[in-house]
Amino acid sequence: MCGIVGYVGKARCVEVLMEGLRNLEYRGYDSAGLALQLGGRIETIKRPGRLDNLAEALEERNGHLSAAHTGVGHTRWATHGRPSEANAHPQLGNGGSVAVVHNGIIENFAELKEELKERGVTFSSETDTEVIAHLLAQRVEAGEPLREALASALRRLRGSFAVAAVSAKEPGKVVAARKQSPLVVGQGAGENYLASAVQALLKQTRRFLVVENGEIVELTGSSVGIFTLDGESVERESFEVEWEAEAIELGGYEDYMLKEIHDQPSALRNTLSGRVDSGGAVDLPEVDLAGVERIAVVGCGTAYHAGLLGKEAIERLARIPVEVAVSSEYRYAHLVGDEKTLVVAISQSGETTDTLAAIEAARAFGGRILAVTNTQGSLITREADAVLLTKAGPEIGVAATKTFLAQIAALYLLALGLARAKGATPEEELRELGRDLRRAPEKVEETLGLLEGRVEEAASLFEEARCALFLGRGSSYPVALEGALKLKEISYLPAEGYPAGEMKHGPIALVDEHSPVVAVLGQGLTREKSLSNVEETVARGASVISVARENDSAARRMSRVVLPVPEAPGILDPFVSSVPLQLLAYRVAKGRALDVDKPRNLAKSVTVE
Ligand code: AGP
Repeated sequence: MCGIVGYVGKARCVEVLMEGLRNLEYRGYDSAGLALQLGGRIETIKRPGRLDNLAEALEERNGHLSAAHTGVGHTRWATHGRPSEANAHPQLGNGGSVAVVHNGIIENFAELKEELKERGVTFSSETDTEVIAHLLAQRVEAGEPLREALASALRRLRGSFAVAAVSAKEPGKVVAARKQSPLVVGQGAGENYLASAVQALLKQTRRFLVVENGEIVELTGSSVGIFTLDGESVERESFEVEWEAEAIELGGYEDYMLKEIHDQPSALRNTLSGRVDSGGAVDLPEVDLAGVERIAVVGCGTAYHAGLLGKEAIERLARIPVEVAVSSEYRYAHLVGDEKTLVVAISQSGETTDTLAAIEAARAFGGRILAVTNTQGSLITREADAVLLTKAGPEIGVAATKTFLAQIAALYLLALGLARAKGATPEEELRELGRDLRRAPEKVEETLGLLEGRVEEAASLFEEARCALFLGRGSSYPVALEGALKLKEISYLPAEGYPAGEMKHGPIALVDEHSPVVAVLGQGLTREKSLSNVEETVARGASVISVARENDSAARRMSRVVLPVPEAPGILDPFVSSVPLQLLAYRVAKGRALDVDKPRNLAKSVTVE
């Protein structure tokens, strides 16, 4: 949450910082601001609300700030202090001698604030960040060089942070540091960059350095130095990211979410490519599958839902017991496990604080950690023993879509690999499933084609809705949960995902003509059982939308609208059934004129507990 950027180099500082913030806006959009070194002073410009407000304010300054060569920028997801100009970053220390941007939470800020006030410091915001700015300014005023001053200030802080700062006394320099919150350095020619995530800088460079916990970075136009808090220099290899700059363009779509829904066939193709051959044999050299006797899957939100699908596949095919937990619960649970336990930590961003903490908790019992993530070089890749990369490309929309399908694909590959290593399912059956899995991109493409022009009618049933129920059984149940999450997060309509058979134990009381029921039917026994459960809601006045095969006459009879999915092997059900629910949520939110890419109160990467 919150995005930070930094730049040193040429007279295009404002342009690079704004482009970086534009690409980081998914991390928070409560306010935005820049601090620029200009003529021996620091100039700040901040605005509450979206980045467009800051862009307008910059235009009003008529290019006055465009001579800057050095600066830092911030886009905020408010933690301490409501969204306002005063609480926007950068925060200034000592009347503006230093400026600081921060992502994270300073847990002991209240006591530091008291101490600083007693020493005569006046505060102008309610943020925790302002204490960093004043601590830093005091050290700089006392004559410490900026990097050392930052190290001294950081020693006083408890909590999580990525910070970047500039000082009026040291032109052409940005310093930064991190503990828990993410930070990368981008390398250019005669210019260098900092950001919370690589996608901020893809237009500038694809060469990056990671910054580890407790390290300080010093950037000038011609150098990048990484140091320990004690000032020792650290060597670091750079790496090149695979993502292309075009991957973060809208490419003609109205929103990122819609683009990303349509990106799904290629996200699946890339994730499966090289991992399952045409004969259906799975090869995952990145993961040691031997000797696994128990599995714990952890994740938040969408990643948790993908984990539920992983459990079903692993238990069915590999016969290994799997527990799935929401990371924020797992981290404080009474964990059972040992060194034969594989902990699969799923995180699109690779930054989610709760999932990183769940990994730490699993370390305590000796678990082996496998990260399933979409983000090369992210924090989780450095905490895990092995990494299974989903190759969905950057996802900008706050609501996860293509990364969900890519996570399911990665987990199914894992299930097939584990089943083979265990010898729990006959080889020929596994190969057939592998061949089926390879068809996921094609079947998702077919689904998108079938749904063309069909979702609007279903969305119209939500015009008068006060809540919605998403029902499914078996592998359709996690799909229903994810469908409800999508609707909630972008349309703000209360929605429950429920196992269809459990309805009669309580939630059926919600059913009336203002609570549409979305039934994810699936195939075989699951379909038959779900049909009867859904009939019970029809009898109570529900308008039903079914996700079903087009020729499913029972579904047609019972439903106001059928969202069709193509005939597909059973293993592909969650892939094809998820797409109509994503599009349904999208259309309902658009019908309410909402911003689907940046829903209220949310941020894409959740770096606070
Ligand atoms: C999904 O639409 C949500 N925005 C959210 O639930 C997300 O999946 C969750 O915060 C986990 O994020 P991660 O995968 O980056 O760890």
